[in-house]
Amino acid sequence: MDSNFDELIDRRGTAALKWNKYAGRDVIPMWVADMDFRSAPAIIQALTRRAQHGVFGYTDPPEELGEVVVTALERDHGWKIRNEWLMWLPGLVSGINLVCRAIGDDGDEVITAAPVYPPFLSGPLHQHRSVTRVPMRLEGTKWVWDLERLEAAITPRTKLLLLCNPHNPVGRVFTREELSQLARIAEKHDLVISSDEIHCGLVLDADKPHVPIATLGEDIAARTVTLMSASKTFNLPGLGCAFAVVPNRELRARLASAAAGIVPRVNAMGFAATLAAYRDSAEWQLALVNYLRVNRDLVLERIRGIPGLSITPIEATYLAWIDVRGLAIRDPVTFFENAGVGLYDGRVFGTDGYVRLNFGCPRSLLEQALDRMQHAVAVRGR
Ligand SMILES: Cc1ncc(COP(=O)(O)O)c(C=O)c1O
Repeated sequence: MDSNFDELIDRRGTAALKWNKYAGRDVIPMWVADMDFRSAPAIIQALTRRAQHGVFGYTDPPEELGEVVVTALERDHGWKIRNEWLMWLPGLVSGINLVCRAIGDDGDEVITAAPVYPPFLSGPLHQHRSVTRVPMRLEGTKWVWDLERLEAAITPRTKLLLLCNPHNPVGRVFTREELSQLARIAEKHDLVISSDEIHCGLVLDADKPHVPIATLGEDIAARTVTLMSASKTFNLPGLGCAFAVVPNRELRARLASAAAGIVPRVNAMGFAATLAAYRDSAEWQLALVNYLRVNRDLVLERIRGIPGLSITPIEATYLAWIDVRGLAIRDPVTFFENAGVGLYDGRVFGTDGYVRLNFGCPRSLLEQALDRMQHAVAVRGR
């Protein structure tokens, strides 16, 4: 394996969204969710080969790709899908918006649990739906869906439930039991489920396997749109390629109709990278997860050592959801930016008093960021 996750790769000057935000400032960017690692060698080779061909016309999904995804989902999650259930999309955010657009009518309600990835909160509004956020609940150190509040918040106009699993930003891998409870509620109230499983390749706890909610039974599969992509795991978010798994033919037709004319086809490079990711890069993924696991442990240990900060276990993702209420600072993001660390504000995810830190970077950079955070809090306390 010739990947070196410790290598510091200079992304400045590549128009990287993550690094551009703090151009010209000494701020380590740890906000948006991409990683500072080079992608898997097989992916880089596939892209190089595709680029060398030199003709970049409109592109269908490569013939092999459907079967490669079918095989990968069975290999990785024991999920047997069919090729014809796949719908290719230029991104998950498009997918979230598309499901909101396809399900229900103007003014209907979409329900989700907050904190959550911001497009879960904005997507319904873009599509003329309202959004009901059920606050997640801390059960000891574990973030869970508050099922009682969920059921109480469902009305006859609630048509769609947005699930994020593994969950961004709290890092939970929901258990089969938790998912079954959600599934029961969706069935009882006849809700369609949009399950964003983009982080499913980044489970850090070996004893907590990712369970696609659509595997729980035929009824649940028939009411679920599962959104996935190789982009988080293999660090390809700039290549715009994702897919929905939709076993229900009628639901597929509704999505296709909602997409007509506004959702572009996937680009040639995105397809080439996705094929190489699922077909040829499992070993790289394993090495990445091992590396992230150590980063995760470091984040937990160091954050717990900073007075005023606290953090719950991170089962998946390269994202840390940090409780900063103990600092009693009105604007924690500016505070840490002034200390040289760029974080995401919890308010964007629907919850005040938290920040999100992206630890998908070389360890030396992470250590430097954690040093800066610790120092800033210590100096402030003097
Ligand atoms: C839960 C979740 N869904 C979707 C996305 C983005 O997907 P895309 O870049 O394919 O639109 C992210 C990116 O961080 C995410 O965390």
